[in-house]
Amino acid sequence: MKRLFALWATTVGKKVAMAVTGIVMILFLVSHMISNVLIFKNPAHLDSYAAWLRSLGPALWIARVGLLGAVVVHIVAAYQLTMRARRARPIAYDRHEKQVTTYAARTMRWGGVLLLVFIVFHLLHFTTGTLHPDFHPGEAGRNVIEGMQVTPVAIFYLVSMLALGLHFSHGIWASFGTLGFHNPAYNQWRRLLAWGVAILVAGGFATIPAAAILGYLK
Ligand code: HEM
Repeated sequence: MKRLFALWATTVGKKVAMAVTGIVMILFLVSHMISNVLIFKNPAHLDSYAAWLRSLGPALWIARVGLLGAVVVHIVAAYQLTMRARRARPIAYDRHEKQVTTYAARTMRWGGVLLLVFIVFHLLHFTTGTLHPDFHPGEAGRNVIEGMQVTPVAIFYLVSMLALGLHFSHGIWASFGTLGFHNPAYNQWRRLLAWGVAILVAGGFATIPAAAILGYLK
């Protein structure tokens, strides 16, 4: 435990924590996305998924606490690394020449903040129903279809999924580097995998609000 705290105190330790917690969240999101797109087959599939989650009882709560812990560690590490970087250069550069970087890399912090706002909204929308126009507990399929009929909400979901895709593509790419895989020989595969997972997960989720806006999901 002492060793773990000593590692956490270092910059590399915080980056490793971000990579590991990021992977935990991605695993959750892959299964969440697959369960959600089943709504196109039959909205009842989503109800069974929600019922199955509840049937897990205490295991669901362990998973929820684990997921929440991963989110908290990820955010705290990101915040502390940002502050460390600022302290290392308290006076901004006179001229700011753009490094060879990607749009996804430059939007990590703002994208992360938007995702945090999204998650809070999302839980109040589909889990508690507080921000839902016509919430029916236990009827997840119906709640998603009804909730997505509110166009500004569906647009917010789409924008958030764009942020999620960008965040993922850079996050996955950077995690591999942190965990020691940065041999130029397979950098191309690393980038391909990062974009592939990002497009698959964010794109899969995005089909739901997009279908609602286009009138295919009602
Ligand atoms: C179009 C995209 C999405 C749809 C339609 C959707 C749908 C849902 C639904 C219906 C629930 C409630 C399940 C229940 O009845 O308990 C839920 C829960 C949840 N969603 Fe999503 N979701 C989407 C995207 C996301 C994203 C991108 C994230 C994370 C960044 C996310 C994180 C969560 C979490 C953490 C829960 C709570 C799980 C629990 O504790 O039971 N969702 N989602």
